[in-house]
Amino acid sequence: MPKQRIGIMGGSFNPIHERHLELAICAMKEQKLDRVIFLPTGNPPHKREGLEDAEHRFEMTRLCMIGLPKCSASRMEIDREGVIYTVDTLTRMLKDSPDLDLYYIIGEDTLLDLPNWRKPDKVFTLCKFLVCRRSEDGEPDQENLSLLEQRGARLTFLQMTPMDTSATEIRSQLASGIEPTALRPQVLEYIRIMGLYGTKTSLEHADMIYAKLKQSLSDRRLLHSVLVAATARKLAAIHGVNENQAVLAALLHDCAKCMPLSEMQKIAKENRLLVDKETMQSTNLLHGPVGAVVAQRDYGIDDQNILAAIRCHTVGKVGMLPLDMIVYLSDKIEPSRRSYPALEEVRRLSGSSLIDAIRYSMESTLEYIAAQKSTIHPDTMRAAQWLGRMAAKKNAVQQNKRSEMNERTN
Ligand SMILES: [Fe+2]
Ligand SMILES: [Fe+2]
Repeated sequence: MPKQRIGIMGGSFNPIHERHLELAICAMKEQKLDRVIFLPTGNPPHKREGLEDAEHRFEMTRLCMIGLPKCSASRMEIDREGVIYTVDTLTRMLKDSPDLDLYYIIGEDTLLDLPNWRKPDKVFTLCKFLVCRRSEDGEPDQENLSLLEQRGARLTFLQMTPMDTSATEIRSQLASGIEPTALRPQVLEYIRIMGLYGTKTSLEHADMIYAKLKQSLSDRRLLHSVLVAATARKLAAIHGVNENQAVLAALLHDCAKCMPLSEMQKIAKENRLLVDKETMQSTNLLHGPVGAVVAQRDYGIDDQNILAAIRCHTVGKVGMLPLDMIVYLSDKIEPSRRSYPALEEVRRLSGSSLIDAIRYSMESTLEYIAAQKSTIHPDTMRAAQWLGRMAAKKNAVQQNKRSEMNERTN
């Protein structure tokens, strides 16, 4: 059987950004790698300024790998104490799985540093190197390349066009409140939730909340929750809603979603939740009201507005507040949502009017349910009718304003 071709991306990933991901994907395509393992470095014995804790760097990396085929993050280096050398990591990998062909992916500037690695000659026998050019101009230092090759280094240059992205620049943008474009939305939101790199937006008890969510949700559901929080944060800023409430409600909106139905039903009965028969039999419906109980019981959330937004995010309700609408909509439009016919229009409308966006979203859901010949939950039906009345009222107010303006100018 041919050996598995494994790419290795080492680094501090402080934080992981698009350039790292592009490099891994490019190496995988060009060199037909079977997979790429990201290996964030552990905490150095003496804390380096600006270097976030290994657990945070690992988690950001892991969040990027969810849904990225053939890529994974390994705790191999962060779980070991003291200074960790590449030679030890590679030796261990090959000891655990001798049928691997290892390709270490590096930037061109690392080439100069290779002779300073611990036991470089041994490293050269353990892996091949895939090298990414630093810039399009200028040739690699041939003398250095020959020296390395004479020592046994096996080097292949990747075709990838170099692109300048620097983690230092990203960190300084974050500290000055600028949104870096080279971060995946889940990484940016994780940074903000935890208040890393000098961002001033951390949630209270963020570590506890995130750790519990991570324990209770599947990876996909966790990623979805972080992305719903990122979307809710944006919508809260646009529509003047309290950002912390929106982020917290969004982050926790599916906190009960991965429970078995029997456990949800038990919680609903114990807490005497007033839910109809249909809701009681459906995880898709019941995780809303049960989620509100769990958010209070396990996450210590006492804010009734947050709990109400979690409770009604599945079917909506009459009298939804802007916070409820933001959570409902963010759930429908977060960036990893698979495309559906109304998606782009709901996204567009969310940026200008919550009522219009949620109305459009609900109506398209109702049409879909009707086409499937499924039953529509009465709360959704009532909410849609209420939203219709709200929209009509809003239009009438706008019309009156326009008429008054016209009269004044005439
Ligand atoms: Fe949900
Ligand atoms: Fe959700």
